[in-house]
Amino acid sequence: MNKIISMAIASAIAISSCTSAVKTDEKPLLWLSSGEPAVEAEVIVDTTLDLHPDGFIIRDTPEGRCIMAKTETGALYGMYALDRMERTGQAEGELDILEEPSYDRRILNHWDNLDNTVERGYAGHSIWHWGEEVPVELITRYARLNASIGINGSVLNNVNATPEMLRRDYLERTAKIADIMRPYGIHVYLAVNFSSPAALGGLETSDPLDPQVRQWWADKAAEIYSLIPDFGGFLVKANSEGLPGPQDFGRTHADGANMLADVLKPYDGIVMWRAFVYSPQSPDRASQACDEFASLDGQFRDNVLIQIKNGPVDFQPREPFSPLFGRMSKTAMMVEFQITQEYLGFSNHLVYLPTLFKECLDSDTYSNGEGSTVEAITTGRTYPEAYKTTAVAGVANIGRDANWCGHEFAQSSWYGFGRMAWDTSLTSEEIAREWLQQTFSTDEEFVKPVLDMMLTSREAVVDYMMPLGLHHIFAWDHHYGPEPWCEIEGARPDWLPKYYHKADENGVGFDRTRRGSGNVNQYNEPLASTYDNIATCPENLLLWFHHVPWTYEMSNGRTLWEEMCHRYDAGVQKVREYQSIWNAAKPYVDAERWEAVRAKLEIQESDARWWRDACVQYFGEFSGMPVPKEIEQPERPLDQLKKIKLDLKHHN
Ligand code: GCU
Repeated sequence: MNKIISMAIASAIAISSCTSAVKTDEKPLLWLSSGEPAVEAEVIVDTTLDLHPDGFIIRDTPEGRCIMAKTETGALYGMYALDRMERTGQAEGELDILEEPSYDRRILNHWDNLDNTVERGYAGHSIWHWGEEVPVELITRYARLNASIGINGSVLNNVNATPEMLRRDYLERTAKIADIMRPYGIHVYLAVNFSSPAALGGLETSDPLDPQVRQWWADKAAEIYSLIPDFGGFLVKANSEGLPGPQDFGRTHADGANMLADVLKPYDGIVMWRAFVYSPQSPDRASQACDEFASLDGQFRDNVLIQIKNGPVDFQPREPFSPLFGRMSKTAMMVEFQITQEYLGFSNHLVYLPTLFKECLDSDTYSNGEGSTVEAITTGRTYPEAYKTTAVAGVANIGRDANWCGHEFAQSSWYGFGRMAWDTSLTSEEIAREWLQQTFSTDEEFVKPVLDMMLTSREAVVDYMMPLGLHHIFAWDHHYGPEPWCEIEGARPDWLPKYYHKADENGVGFDRTRRGSGNVNQYNEPLASTYDNIATCPENLLLWFHHVPWTYEMSNGRTLWEEMCHRYDAGVQKVREYQSIWNAAKPYVDAERWEAVRAKLEIQESDARWWRDACVQYFGEFSGMPVPKEIEQPERPLDQLKKIKLDLKHHN
């Protein structure tokens, strides 16, 4: 069953006709310098190969270099891999490579609305152009970029899904998008609203155990698959932030997820059921996903995956991993990362996120003894029986901006998400290096310092926004600037910063120990005890797990108060270092992109100062101590900073 495709044909499998262009043709395709992988190799598709359907082999034989795969998609991945290796100087010498993906499904979640706005999108409106002519070329480019890094799924719409999404006209449109992306191995998924049977179908209820409701979903699934035979499945946000769900009818998450799983099963579709749940009644939001889901372990169908945010609260600059990853052994789970920088400076701040992704994946849950990392669990190594398929999701940072992501460097987090989803053993450094080489320059004089900037950038943003485990002290309405003082009459307490930082004259931080909310007990030992004890709790999570006295002595001998001030200042200084690095990088970068990044770094430096000055002065009112003399003193008084109000509700 050998199918030998010449290079020209191999490229043609991935070419669709172009009718309209939004991003200009001259723009480089980010890390892809040309449209199709231009490699010199014989490409063989052999369906009998004992290989993952997406896997490939690149091998040098006496007859020449060849790429072998079981499917055309695998062959395409092999070509992109070789192309990347050639451009990053790794294709020399004799090659004998076999690659198979770490996760079966490597999915972008677009939070795009049908009016083309993008929830938490900072790069322009939706690339799907709902209600307008289908932008074939734009979607083709998007698909090609994704295929080049191994992404093979797109959820097209917002998790806050409108029932309208399942209307016939939108499904037909979805089918057109699926047709464009299919040659690149990308499957389309949709986020669905749990009350669609009532809201769209006119039924009296959306109770998952009601036979008419089940039939409505079964009919809808049949309709979708008649239009899109390789449709991936549903993503569901239920009983979360006011959205409907099975609990509205006295049913469980399992009842809801299983009902949808049953109707998708005949078509090999999956349900990604989100565990992002919290209610204002709970004393600790970080504990709620475990409280609601852990006891349901084993009750879900095998085509359900529980989609869990990396941390237990909400994509903060730093969180511990969600304890739920360590609590289910009979249920498939997947991580949801956020590539869009909702809580990390939007598309204004340079923050390379794979270091954050990696920190979560490498965390040991001790679910089945040592080595049960989040990565080992979710790739199915720890509990193979529970994982009929594996998946990982990233909330996309993509929009209509000419550079796709709003910030030239934000592309690296999209790129890094894809590469890491393909191969979890790649380091953040390897990924950043290859991205830089393909995007800007292979000159080490450029790569070395800029690589260092990328690799430290996540820690810098943690320092100037929320060091030592502080979290969610953002301004009301948007998640950009600081407002740890924020009070809104009648607002949900868990939507206010004071719920999280709990600063008072004794200290600061959320007591999640056994003497506090008890959240530490959701982690397996030895973690529960490690986190519980202030002396062993990692300092970068100290204020996440403990309410710590201002005079507490840190490992470096400083008091907590001094250390907090030092960290805030270190974050600002780091951004200034980045400005110098970028100034020195000028000869290696085209003028347009160099200036774009320079301008963003200027904003980042100013924002970092805003964060530092606001936070050290605000928390100083509780500590009663001055900002240490050896660091830069705040420029603007707190009452002036408190007056800053940004209208960032509609930022795209
Ligand atoms: C965050 C975000 C919302 C989003 C939600 C989710 O709370 O601010 O915009 O809808 O996460 O992930 O469902």
